[in-house]
Amino acid sequence: MKQLTLRVLRFDPKNDDAPHFESYTIQVHEGARVLHALHAIHDDCDPTLTYRYCCGTGQCGSCAVRVNGEPVLACMEEARDGISVEPLEIPVIKDLAVDLLPYIEALPVICPETTATAQMPGKDLVETMKPLRSCIGCMACVSVCPALAVSDFGGPTVMRQEMRLTLDPRDTKDRESEAVTEGLFRCTSCQACWKVCPKEIQIPGKAIEKLRELAHYKGHSLPRHAEVAALIKETGRSVTWTAPSFLELTTEVMEPYGPVKKSVGFFVGCMYNLRLPKTALDAIEVLRRNGVRVIIPRDQICCGSPLIRTGQTEYVDTLKARNIAAFTALSIDTVVTMCAGCGSTLKHDYETPFKVMDFSELLTETGFGSPAHLGLNVTYHDPCHLARGQGITEQPRVILRKVADITEMPSICCGSGGGVRSGFPDEAAALGERRGEEIKKTGAEMVVTCCPFCEFHIAGHTDKPVQHLATLLLNGYKEKEKP
Ligand code: SF4
Ligand code: SF4
Ligand code: FES
Repeated sequence: MKQLTLRVLRFDPKNDDAPHFESYTIQVHEGARVLHALHAIHDDCDPTLTYRYCCGTGQCGSCAVRVNGEPVLACMEEARDGISVEPLEIPVIKDLAVDLLPYIEALPVICPETTATAQMPGKDLVETMKPLRSCIGCMACVSVCPALAVSDFGGPTVMRQEMRLTLDPRDTKDRESEAVTEGLFRCTSCQACWKVCPKEIQIPGKAIEKLRELAHYKGHSLPRHAEVAALIKETGRSVTWTAPSFLELTTEVMEPYGPVKKSVGFFVGCMYNLRLPKTALDAIEVLRRNGVRVIIPRDQICCGSPLIRTGQTEYVDTLKARNIAAFTALSIDTVVTMCAGCGSTLKHDYETPFKVMDFSELLTETGFGSPAHLGLNVTYHDPCHLARGQGITEQPRVILRKVADITEMPSICCGSGGGVRSGFPDEAAALGERRGEEIKKTGAEMVVTCCPFCEFHIAGHTDKPVQHLATLLLNGYKEKEKP
């Protein structure tokens, strides 16, 4: 047996004004799960503690709670000393029991073909549907979905179910159109839902993007998304020219200032090429100062992310082929990008003959010169497509700590992704405001991030300056050079 002390958020709406933490010290067996700890509290300390469970083996989904702020299944999560246990962030009935009913009732159910022509799904189709069917209704995804929190979006598991029914030949309803009315295009592609899903259901990629693609071919694309698609087809870029572009301001090969430590290709992306070229020039300067030869193919174009995320996929293969050809023609074996969205797309939606790395990944892997510490207190915004899309959270912080002090804030979506900023500006603004409030709470003087869409969007919702990591690092180098 071992002794544990844990904090549990208690709340009885009938008697309490507000939720409050209670601390409990209990005895549990080695390897005990959080659910065992809750049983011990209930049996030995306080029989009024309310929580849900059924199977105890990760099959029913009823025990989902937050441990140290992260949604988990209590029956699968190890009970550790010092943890905090809270309900999911959905309306609480009492203590750890939340009101799941509205989310369960919102799930679409099969509308079956009853005539003799009804078809059964074949073996291959059953396999295709399996990942979408493995939901255990824990509603962890629902509890973290930013779109659902600020709009009338149906939510991730509703979209999962719509896609599952779309695939089922026994179902007779027009599921794509139904999903559109449930807010299909309101998802910001933040990836939060599948990162917390105990069954690892890839809802954004395997359900939402697929439904958007089917909806697009039924003529449901949003007019603003269609405009972006037309611009990409016409110009190869998702935004218009407003100033000399990064590609116009650079040459194909930018040599380092000292010996060549590494040679990489640079994928600039539409936003850094056309809207924020100065920031991309800062990144090139940082790489050159760190012995990196940067090759910038002139023929590179949009990575296709705005099309893939919004389901407008007919031109995507052309973009992929042109980008791959642009880099392979120059015998590049490593491609670096400073845009989280482009990096995630190149890594997951392409099959590249070269390695793709984020700017922060490259610098931390090859080593980088020490900058001056600028004495700033900054906060770091994790771009969804870098943190959840590529699993890169520590590398930017390793660099950032050399230049500034970091005050952390919760890793939440800023609202700019998935075509939401263009398609639903009100929703994007509401999420931007949430981000702005968290920034304010940190008391930081500056916001640092690694994504042009986040940079642009957050700047509209905070009075603090927003910079890419590369710019801050370059400022650290310049400061060090001062006499
Ligand atoms: S990707 Fe983000 S916005 Fe989209 S359904 Fe999942 S949690 Fe919600
Ligand atoms: S999709 Fe995953 S996280 Fe969402 S309810 Fe189903 S099992 Fe839970
Ligand atoms: S009790 Fe069934 S999943 Fe945890």
